[in-house]
Amino acid sequence: MTKTKGSHLHPQSQRVTREARSALKGHQPLVIWFTGLSGSGKSTLANALEQRLNSEFHVHTFLLDGDHVRTGLNADLGFSDQDRSENIRRVAHVAKLMYDAGLIVLTAFISPFQKDRDLARRLLPEGAFWEVFVDCPLEVCQRRDPKNLYKKASQNEIAQFTGLTSAYQPPENPEIILHTDQMPL
Ligand code: ADX
Repeated sequence: MTKTKGSHLHPQSQRVTREARSALKGHQPLVIWFTGLSGSGKSTLANALEQRLNSEFHVHTFLLDGDHVRTGLNADLGFSDQDRSENIRRVAHVAKLMYDAGLIVLTAFISPFQKDRDLARRLLPEGAFWEVFVDCPLEVCQRRDPKNLYKKASQNEIAQFTGLTSAYQPPENPEIILHTDQMPL
């Protein structure tokens, strides 16, 4: 947990509770956290799931995606281990706020470090965080290379690239594992 820099903070308890907000929506809130290598299919899966939840089940969803969040809220962060942890810490707190607002939150970030995913989990009540390991072998992601990034990274045009020159720690105990090299969308 990061240290709080501010002092003398006294958050007032809020009259409208999370339960009251979610009762209005008519469904439970949830955080579905997709993690995996670049090109493993996180964004594709999260997008497809959000579309079904929205159009078929009429639940209030929100998708937080690395390539989007990094152009706004987290535009100041790069890809060092430290910046990736800060990226995930902020996203975890945004997901928690949206959870408290009553939404089903889907996140699609590489989120390479177990300790950062654990932090996200700890912010939420038991059962409200589903870690989804989008498990796809590095060779397959490299072959897919939808953004041409593996090629650039192997030519040293991108530093600290996940799977090549930066670590990825597979989830130790994920709720769901999806082998995207073996299953259709
Ligand atoms: S994370 O590691 O901090 O969780 P995040 O999911 O936000 O990463 O961003 C990953 C996306 O940034 C990739 O899908 C890719 O498009 C882009 N990217 C740019 N540089 C890198 C890099 N060095 N390593 C991984 N992804 C990168």
